[in-house]
Amino acid sequence: MAETPGADYRLPQNITPERYDIRLSLELGASTFSGEESVSVTFHQATDTAVLNSLELEVVTVRAVRPDRISVNGHAEVDEQHEQLKLIFPRALEAGPWVLHLGFRGRLNEKLAGFYRSTYTDGGGTERVLASTQFESTDARRAFPCWDEPAFKSVFAVTLTIDSGLTAISNSPVLEESPADQPGKKRVRFADTIKMSTYLVAFMVGEFEAGRPASAAGVPLRVWAVSGKEGLTDYARDVGAFALSYFADYYGIPYPGMKLDLIAIPDFAAGAMENFGAVTFRETALLVDPATATKGELERVAIVVAHELAHMWFGDLVTMHWWNGLWLNEAFATFMEMLAVDAWNPEWETWLSFASDRAGAQLIDGLQSTRPIEFPVHRPEDAQAMFDVLTYQKGAAVLRMLQQYLGEQTFREGVNLYLKKHAYANTETGDLWDALEEASGQPVRRTMDTWIFQEGYPLLSIEAADGGGQVSLSQQRFLYLGNREPVDSSEKPSRWQVPVIVRAALLSGSEELRLLLSDGQAQLRLPAETEWIAGNAGGHGFYRVRYSRDLFAKLLPHIQSDLPPIERFNLVSDTWSATLAGYTQLVDFLDLTKLYLEESDETVWTMLVGTLAGLRRMMGAEERPAIAALARNRLSAVQSRLGWDPQPADGERTRELRGMVLGTLGVLGDAPAIREEAVARYARYLRDRAGVDPNLVPALVGILAANGGTERYDEFWAEYKAARTPQEEQRYLFALAGFRDLDLLARTLEHTLDGEVRTQDAPFLVRAVMANKSGCELACRFTKDYWDEMTARYPESGITRMCEGVTSLTTPELETDVRAFFATHEVKQAGKQLDQHLERLHMGVVFRQREASNLRTYAAG
Ligand code: BES
Ligand code: ZN
Repeated sequence: MAETPGADYRLPQNITPERYDIRLSLELGASTFSGEESVSVTFHQATDTAVLNSLELEVVTVRAVRPDRISVNGHAEVDEQHEQLKLIFPRALEAGPWVLHLGFRGRLNEKLAGFYRSTYTDGGGTERVLASTQFESTDARRAFPCWDEPAFKSVFAVTLTIDSGLTAISNSPVLEESPADQPGKKRVRFADTIKMSTYLVAFMVGEFEAGRPASAAGVPLRVWAVSGKEGLTDYARDVGAFALSYFADYYGIPYPGMKLDLIAIPDFAAGAMENFGAVTFRETALLVDPATATKGELERVAIVVAHELAHMWFGDLVTMHWWNGLWLNEAFATFMEMLAVDAWNPEWETWLSFASDRAGAQLIDGLQSTRPIEFPVHRPEDAQAMFDVLTYQKGAAVLRMLQQYLGEQTFREGVNLYLKKHAYANTETGDLWDALEEASGQPVRRTMDTWIFQEGYPLLSIEAADGGGQVSLSQQRFLYLGNREPVDSSEKPSRWQVPVIVRAALLSGSEELRLLLSDGQAQLRLPAETEWIAGNAGGHGFYRVRYSRDLFAKLLPHIQSDLPPIERFNLVSDTWSATLAGYTQLVDFLDLTKLYLEESDETVWTMLVGTLAGLRRMMGAEERPAIAALARNRLSAVQSRLGWDPQPADGERTRELRGMVLGTLGVLGDAPAIREEAVARYARYLRDRAGVDPNLVPALVGILAANGGTERYDEFWAEYKAARTPQEEQRYLFALAGFRDLDLLARTLEHTLDGEVRTQDAPFLVRAVMANKSGCELACRFTKDYWDEMTARYPESGITRMCEGVTSLTTPELETDVRAFFATHEVKQAGKQLDQHLERLHMGVVFRQREASNLRTYAAG
């Protein structure tokens, strides 16, 4: 019988760990550590070998001790490929409890995974070093030998020996600090953790300072940064305290730890990590100055903090059994993050802006190279590949759809049941459905299985039937390229259980009609006086709608007067997708956007501007004037309404919208008047930074970069180096990818490898140059030339993200070139994401060939 490929990466189940006593001694200057651990385990059968995970550690001593003090020395054999360690003993060890004592040594690495080194320059200009961990998914094994799978939950007791002047933080409170045997060193002993998975263990050592502490529902909460930056911690503390109380209340379970620390790490591969009680962040996601930040930057901090705190219960207390179920962690945290942020600041309308994220998931999930939310994982790189828009955004979107279908209270009751039942344990997807079925009495599992285990999503076609007394609804899979239904009739077409909500507009008022569509087709009876109808009412459904010609014509006059923003958004999104898929013509789509000249909602504008940016990305230089003209035509009315200066009545969304509109006009729109004003306003900003609305600053910087020369480049470079906040630093750094001069873009690319740009940012900067139409070929050549250096230095997740830049290379020749490159250069941690980038590139090539001349004609007419 053929073995599942990769199954040999899993650990045998014959031994279970219960408690790890881990003692590490760190030489920060030398980047080395040595460790000893005593792991209390149960042997379920007698055996002379124990298999666990270990990677790039040198294991020097192996001993097993029985409760009656009988001790057996063994030795370790390394299986590098499988990242495993075999402990071999001279005789079989009896079934029952043992304590395994291991001595080992390791090095701090620079790839931001496992136990790693991070550096920064302090306020006095001196280079400083700190050490931090990042274990998810499978890198705890780089810091100490362990059963590094999420279902081997254990208690961890950590003791660190470090230089006396440094601060150590870990999952639990410090129990005691005492001088160590070596001079100049101290020993910091932490309390036992809760029973949890290895990937949630964390410790960090450096010159950290905490801001003012808070207490949230009795739990001490502190926000940490490297010294000098603790002044930027207040906002995160406030949102953290809010979110902690919010979740304790929502889940109906108190926070299960004794304290909570949030720590900003200068070098960090992901955005943040939910280590239990010691959550780590990249600086932009935690440290912020509310006086100079944009609405988006503050919202980002709130979102990330809320997301990680949601994990303290969903993920940390209750954990997926294995990485195929990652969505249970991540989709849920994404869903909960929005609930909490919506309560924190309702003015942001978080659920409305989630429409953009849902659309992002629908883009990828409309590809042939998509995957189901739950997907097989065998090797470490398979687990890494799961952190994508399908796990996070599609997962959260289908949860939102379910929550709206079951009702918010019922949904919450089901979640509470689930958490209480599985606390300190592991779950499969079905466990969540069981709890929701118990709470709701509805067939949740049958419905949700079609969304979780099946890739793609439906296109719902709506047409009038029975002389207008009914509508007929039918579903088929939505795909941008290729066949929509299987050609081979033996293969069944994809079917979803779709919670359909249709709104029928009557002469007076309207009526919502609900139906769970399970088959290919169904009829829906309309109320007698129906004037027109809107599909996906409320906008929560993870599907697209396509109206028959007459129903569409009846809907159009009501867009601005009668559709709520989320439905106006979806109408653009669905029609744009139909255009990309080739069953609506670009000119028809562009005509639709004329109906949005009066549009005032930020999220809807994000979609409209996104389609212009998409055109710019896919089309060539010859189409640039047409796209610029289109941008000016569609945006000038909203620009005149908003002006340049904030009005007293403006909400935060309007302020941010103003920045987006001006930025788009000044860059995509090539609008000279906007450019000139931007130059003047930026000069004013430099004289008085508080005198300009922060929401305008990204637009000013972006416009100046797009039209700037060497002098401006040098100025922005200096601003990047001298930035006062992480957000300002990012703004100027990414502006360096927005210049149009090739020599300047070449300088930006060189900085991604010369040590001037952190490896956490470098791949994103390369991607940004690729996304800049002026730089895409240059960046592509650079990437091919320096591929080996990049893959050696950048964090692995960064490489996958960087490759998304290829979607701008939309000529058949460049596409061939890109495909040839990746045929010989594997990105093993990308999973299906590389194929998705390539399919999107192909979509762009096809779209450009089909529509480029139509676009030029349209803009000229
Ligand atoms: N668990 C993840 C962090 C992570 C991501 C670990 C990828 C390993 C690989 C964390 O909870 C997370 O989802 N972070 C997000 C930010 C969040 C607000 C969506 C991230 O890092 O982008
Ligand atoms: Zn997460």
